[in-house]
Amino acid sequence: MSDKVANHYSSHSDLADAIAGRLRESGKDIAALTTADLGAIDEFHIRGRKATLELAAGLGLTASSRVLDLGSGLGGPARTLAETYGCHVTGIDLTPAFCAAAMALSAWVGLADKVEFQIGDATRLPFADASFDAAMTIHVAMNIAAKDRMYAEARRVLRPGSRFGIYDVLQGEGGDVLYPVPWAREPSISHVATPDQMKSLLAGAGFKILNEIDSTEESQRWFEAMAARMKQGSTPPLTFRTFLGDDFPAMTRNQVLNLQERRIRTVSYICEA
Ligand SMILES: C[S@@+](CC[C@H](N)C(=O)[O-])C[C@H]1O[C@@H](n2cnc3c(N)ncnc32)[C@H](O)[C@@H]1O
Repeated sequence: MSDKVANHYSSHSDLADAIAGRLRESGKDIAALTTADLGAIDEFHIRGRKATLELAAGLGLTASSRVLDLGSGLGGPARTLAETYGCHVTGIDLTPAFCAAAMALSAWVGLADKVEFQIGDATRLPFADASFDAAMTIHVAMNIAAKDRMYAEARRVLRPGSRFGIYDVLQGEGGDVLYPVPWAREPSISHVATPDQMKSLLAGAGFKILNEIDSTEESQRWFEAMAARMKQGSTPPLTFRTFLGDDFPAMTRNQVLNLQERRIRTVSYICEA
């Protein structure tokens, strides 16, 4: 099952090279890139960098924090936290091509000493108990059936009293998800939990939910704006299509419907370990 998930995300074996090519074509100098130049592709979730910063604001981070990012993708959220707070972020992700790209992109923007990325499974973390001061996971659990194991592992590696931020796509009340979507081309690798299931999963893993925010309306507007840009042909050089491929426009159309019809919701939780 984990191979199926990694295959879903791996259209390029050298994703950093593909990204560098697009950036050069658009006139960017790779030696002078900023994290803002990568934001359209490396914050691989609905509402992008803004959503990462909102979640991070609830984590109590300082420059000395050791932070874990579960399902770190191309590393955008990890770099955003490292750049904003000066903290150190360790990312773990199932998809080797994403981990390799995450390391390369971090070097391009001068953050290689603040972030690191390892290939691994969020349900079996290769870290000691209580080894992190905060953790986050953004748009990952919808690929994971064993969410109880994922949250138990997050709880295990967190220092007691520290914070865990979750921002995920949940099952809405409007019916089944329409596929393809960015995290799955068909239902076998999609495991969206309902808000009630999330609450009981997090409590079952020993977390206390301090705050819950439903951002579905804003997510709907975000995807509607993306669909409108695609229709007008005014897309930036880098988009999720760079690695999701030619069915990304179909994914975007479905996400607009999934959000409009409340087949999905986007919800964040700040929890205490
Ligand atoms: C939609 S992307 C989000 C990436 C990143 N969190 C972000 O917001 O930019 C989902 C990521 O979850 C990763 N993933 C899915 N299942 C995983 C698992 N069991 N363990 C670790 N990573 C996983 C995928 O490889 C992919 O990089």
